[in-house]
Amino acid sequence: MTRRPIGIILNGVTGRMGYRQHLVRSLLAIREQGGVPLDDGTTIWPEPVLVGRSETRLRDIAERHGLTDWTTDLSAVLARDDVRIYFDSQVTQQREKAIRQAIEAGKHIYTEKPMAETSAAALDLARAATAAGLRTGVVQDKLFLPGLRKLKRLIDGGFFGRILSVRGEFGYWVFEGDWQPAQRPSWNYRAEDGGGIVVDMFPHWQYVLEELFGQVKAVTCVTATHIPRRVDEAGNAYPATADDAAYGIFELAGGIVAQLNSSWCVRVNRDELVEFQVDGTEGSAVAGLRGCRVQHRAVTPKPVWNPDLPVTEDFRSQWTEVPDNEEFDNGFKVQWEAFLRHVVAGEPFGWDFLAGARGVQLAELGLLSAREGCRVEVPELDR
Ligand SMILES: NC(=O)c1ccc[n+]([C@@H]2O[C@H](COP(=O)([O-])OP(=O)(O)OC[C@H]3O[C@@H](n4cnc5c(N)ncnc54)[C@H](O)[C@@H]3O)[C@@H](O)[C@H]2O)c1
Repeated sequence: MTRRPIGIILNGVTGRMGYRQHLVRSLLAIREQGGVPLDDGTTIWPEPVLVGRSETRLRDIAERHGLTDWTTDLSAVLARDDVRIYFDSQVTQQREKAIRQAIEAGKHIYTEKPMAETSAAALDLARAATAAGLRTGVVQDKLFLPGLRKLKRLIDGGFFGRILSVRGEFGYWVFEGDWQPAQRPSWNYRAEDGGGIVVDMFPHWQYVLEELFGQVKAVTCVTATHIPRRVDEAGNAYPATADDAAYGIFELAGGIVAQLNSSWCVRVNRDELVEFQVDGTEGSAVAGLRGCRVQHRAVTPKPVWNPDLPVTEDFRSQWTEVPDNEEFDNGFKVQWEAFLRHVVAGEPFGWDFLAGARGVQLAELGLLSAREGCRVEVPELDR
């Protein structure tokens, strides 16, 4: 089978997402399966070029995985003809400048979310990439989670009747870093370094809501910095200047109301780290990362409010698990394969820079709502 090698810059590959999800679980996993097959019988063969700031760390990753192509010089690698794709998983603040450089070098671009710090910058990047004739993509991994895929299947199959509301609970306790190390990077808790849970999670909520339920028309949001002081990777205490919890209401096209709580300051009493309950006239579902349970109208029990008596029903047992009915691959890898087919074979790919800009816009308007204490309408972004 003819291989079609394609050079891909991975900038930020020493980070959590860059290393684990994008290099190991996506590009190297694609190589292990023999590449991405195309209809013409050829296969796309990713050739990763590791880019970062630390020679030691890059060399270490390269050696661990038998790779040889790595550099700390982004400009030099952008000038190479065998490299056609630039991928960015750096800290968010470094992204815009690097993507601009990649556009000038004529590379197709795939990036982690949020794709920029402001919607104006995101739109500007979208327009510049389009004007240069480049193909773009933004990571929207949650769409490929088994739980959300099952939810989408239920929606497409008409299970819910008319969908009324969505309630989502995302979060877990992120350690403060004093007596146990924090399990997220400290920049996430500093606004001046691009941190904050709204900037981190609202881009996800935007595409999840839009693709599953309908366009977001308005947002109302309350944010908090519940833990004002944390301890960083070097053991130094620092003031947490970014929001670590966001309580949002999203009004969707068609009258659906979505309430989503996002918090790094909650202890988990759920089956999964994120869960969405969807209630419709004909049935309801609770979807997590992997699982999805349903209750149909026909089998809905009739609880009666009586605080004088102990609960007589085991409500959780009244739901039915939705079967997998298919194999679910890693979501990051599935989206990478789609982007590679888009670049090499021109196959359609819906999650471009304009889609990414809508995610940045929702985060921006969520923060505006929180700052001003008001409901904010979400205008259409104009390409
Ligand atoms: N899709 C998702 O579910 C998901 C989840 C977490 C994070 N992310 C996004 O991925 C990106 C990276 O997040 P992460 O959790 O991997 O972060 P991380 O801190 O683990 O990695 C950051 C990377 O950026 C590099 N970097 C470049 N310039 C830097 C600078 N000036 N200061 C610090 N680091 C610098 C680091 O070397 C490192 O490779 C962020 O934009 C984040 O929003 C996405």
